[in-house]
Amino acid sequence: MTQASSKQQRDILVTSALPYANGPIHLGHLLEYIQTDIWVRYQNMRGQNCYYVCADDAHGTAIMLRAEREGITSEQLIDRIRGEHQEDFGGFHIRFDNYYTTHSEENRNFSEYIYRQLQKNDHIATRKITQSFDPEKNMFLADRFIKGTCPKCKTEDQYGDNCESCGATYTPSELINPRSAVSGATPIEKESEHYFFKLPEFADFLTKWTRSGALQPQVANKLAEWLDAGLQEWDISRDAPYFGFEIPDAPGKFFYVWLDAPIGYLASFKNLCNREGIDFEHFWKADSTAEVYHFIGKDIINFHALFWPAMLHDAGFRTPTAVWAHGFVTVNGKKMSKSRGTFIMARTYLDHLNPEYLRYYFASKLTGGVDDMDLNLEDFAARVNSDLVGKVVNIASRSAGFITKRFNGKLGQVTEQDKLKGFIDAGNEIEELYEAREFGRATRRIMELADTANQYVNDEQPWVVAKQDGQDDKLQAICTNSLNMFHLLMTYLAPVLPETAKAAEDFLNAKLDWNNRSARLENHSINTFKPLMNRVDMVQIEKMLDASKEEMPAATGKPAEPTQPEKIEAVADEIEFDDFTKVDLRVVKIVKAEHVEGADKLLRLTLDLGHGERNVFAGIKSAYKPEDLEGRLTVMVANLKPRKMKFGISEGMVLAAGPGGKDIFLLSPDSGSTPGMRVM
Ligand code: 2FM
Ligand code: ZN
Repeated sequence: MTQASSKQQRDILVTSALPYANGPIHLGHLLEYIQTDIWVRYQNMRGQNCYYVCADDAHGTAIMLRAEREGITSEQLIDRIRGEHQEDFGGFHIRFDNYYTTHSEENRNFSEYIYRQLQKNDHIATRKITQSFDPEKNMFLADRFIKGTCPKCKTEDQYGDNCESCGATYTPSELINPRSAVSGATPIEKESEHYFFKLPEFADFLTKWTRSGALQPQVANKLAEWLDAGLQEWDISRDAPYFGFEIPDAPGKFFYVWLDAPIGYLASFKNLCNREGIDFEHFWKADSTAEVYHFIGKDIINFHALFWPAMLHDAGFRTPTAVWAHGFVTVNGKKMSKSRGTFIMARTYLDHLNPEYLRYYFASKLTGGVDDMDLNLEDFAARVNSDLVGKVVNIASRSAGFITKRFNGKLGQVTEQDKLKGFIDAGNEIEELYEAREFGRATRRIMELADTANQYVNDEQPWVVAKQDGQDDKLQAICTNSLNMFHLLMTYLAPVLPETAKAAEDFLNAKLDWNNRSARLENHSINTFKPLMNRVDMVQIEKMLDASKEEMPAATGKPAEPTQPEKIEAVADEIEFDDFTKVDLRVVKIVKAEHVEGADKLLRLTLDLGHGERNVFAGIKSAYKPEDLEGRLTVMVANLKPRKMKFGISEGMVLAAGPGGKDIFLLSPDSGSTPGMRVM
């Protein structure tokens, strides 16, 4: 955050949804953090007092079970993941004022405080409910931790709430042959006492609040439907074992992760306030004049636009000024998919491409609405190359050389006053577009200005003027005009391209100061121009997709143990039976298994098919030592087209299943099988 002297300086607190401390950040997440970061950087550039906080969402059963599987404590797991998340966000220049965790003392205190306020106001109910229980693990099972055969289409191995094959929805008790996804035991039904937040008592309050302008119109309409249908009490407790905060005076009962997650916004901000001496109360007291905005995905609207404002209101805090939802990311028109390599992790992207390309591409397509966003990779390359490299950077590179070589690095006077005034005035429109999160329209307007600037240079032809005698003043003026235009373009793009903006400041030897943008760069020394951005090459994109495929643990089926739902699911497209019969599955002997230098997840396997050998890369390093594999039989897809991977050609795929990490189970035929035998 930056300080400003303006009288009307706004105090603003902004959040993005807290990512689960359960897995890596991927491009689906990044849309939100990039959107928020652009908005916050814009506010700070304008001199507002704007803070951006976030945290890892560290509680819940999935995190507890994953830590158990990895043989570490939940605390160790969430610390590690938080470090990874912070690195990924830093890589994309997401500039949080604080990145905390929901597993903090501040969050425990706020959760307990808010709970006690709700209790005091008689808004907590308790009653017994019956749920599935794993008698081996001694734990209650949420629907997604139960699997069985779909009661409708009889497909096996379906989750407890819906069938991925026929789409039927049901309760776990309707599953045929249900079993715990944690231990495999048959679940029993068991009663326990739960704590509920009496949400229906807030129906009138929420009807008003959701219509108060705090929500996008589409979202407010959806909520009106939910409110008409009637609200249900919200179950805020979970039984031990659970990784979270124990409910006061309720031994063995824990706050449900979704109770303490949004409270994590308060806790992260409080932690920042304590560190930097900011007045927490000023932002959160009931009649606060500060502004609070939550950026979220459209899948978590109910938590943010119903439960959260009701809880805050009941506990005596202010409610958010606005909750802004965005849509989901698709890649090349389809759901992100591991097999297509389009389930792209933040880290994999950063290994291959400049983060500002993605910031710009997302910005160029973002609206203030909730529409989904397609990352079309060819369009991505074309747009970055044409707009940023071809238009914006080009303006500087066409003029800078003359200033350096012919004028000792010194600009002259601006002579195109009207043109420049047009650029300065356009800032007023662009301000409104940034404020309204209409980043696509903002970037289009900026590109119109870039077109005008390029047209100016085309018309004036400085390279021709440079060869004419006695035209030095004219040449210097053309370049001064165009570099002043470039200065304004980069000012307007700075919230989207923070690193290029810094490089432009170095080159121009001047700040990009939005509020003082009518000041011209005249009789001013600039530095030698260095290319500010390179073109995107489709080869880099292909490499990123290949690396994303390599990220796959193996040809796994659905995880044996579910994780918390990711915002974007990795579900392969349906195939026809005929497609399936094309797959040639063979029993093979692993004759050699080796580490692959530079690969985190892969082992190189030499497989004996009985009539020849194959080289296959398998993402199973986390689960097997090479020496333990040699001599083992496994099953492979023998007729998979050889695929060029980063480390060589892979001539097939071994079959494995499991959730990943240490639990990847190679399919092993019985020891009487012979290599080369077809699997029927
Ligand atoms: O959907 C999710 O990924 C949640 N971890 C978001 C929590 S946002 C807030 F409420 F904490
Ligand atoms: Zn079904």
